[in-house]
Amino acid sequence: MELREGLLTRRTISTFSKQPVDRDIVKRATECAMLAPNHKNTEPWHFYILEGESKEKLAKRRGYFKASKFEEGDERAKTAQEKGYQSMVDLPWVVVVTARRTPEDPVRDREDYAAVSAAIQNFMLSVWSEGVGTKWSTGALVQDEEVARIISAEENEEVVGILFVGYPEGTQPKPKKRHEAESITWLD
Ligand SMILES: Cc1cc2nc3c(=O)[nH]c(=O)nc-3n(C[C@H](O)[C@H](O)[C@H](O)COP(=O)(O)O)c2cc1C
Repeated sequence: MELREGLLTRRTISTFSKQPVDRDIVKRATECAMLAPNHKNTEPWHFYILEGESKEKLAKRRGYFKASKFEEGDERAKTAQEKGYQSMVDLPWVVVVTARRTPEDPVRDREDYAAVSAAIQNFMLSVWSEGVGTKWSTGALVQDEEVARIISAEENEEVVGILFVGYPEGTQPKPKKRHEAESITWLD
């Protein structure tokens, strides 16, 4: 897939097939992620690539948070928990991406966070060039201490995104309307 085509056609995927995704596809994507722009070459990112037991632990945690949106005794909680768990555990790969934070140096901290976002985009575009879809998710899981324990993150790491990785299933989502007129200004 040509680079520009990948940029234009990548969409957030919400329904994934259980079809396995070759480890080499993920490896190639991490290579692309590591080559993202990063000021002063701080390489502030860490990509935790989960399958097996670690993915199952994360999925359980996801189920827990999905259920906790309901009042106690609400029977919809159980369905939400199962769905939340199953839709993650069925993914071929889940990638937790962290940024090394430096609150004592706010400029570097912002630059590093931006660099991690660029690395995530590189990762997502690389797998997409091989037909594999992603969803960058955040929500309660990214701030959860239990998730940090599952990946054995250092104290100074913050989860920037949890990437769902798998072949898309069903019809491809269309891009949402963008507002170019408000977002782009050409200056002489
Ligand atoms: C920082 C960030 C956090 C996101 N978190 C979520 C999320 O928690 N759940 C979700 O479904 N999508 C999430 N997304 C995906 C966006 O909803 C998605 O990119 C947006 O709707 C545009 O769709 P597109 O990616 O198909 O262009 C996130 C995207 C970014 C950049």
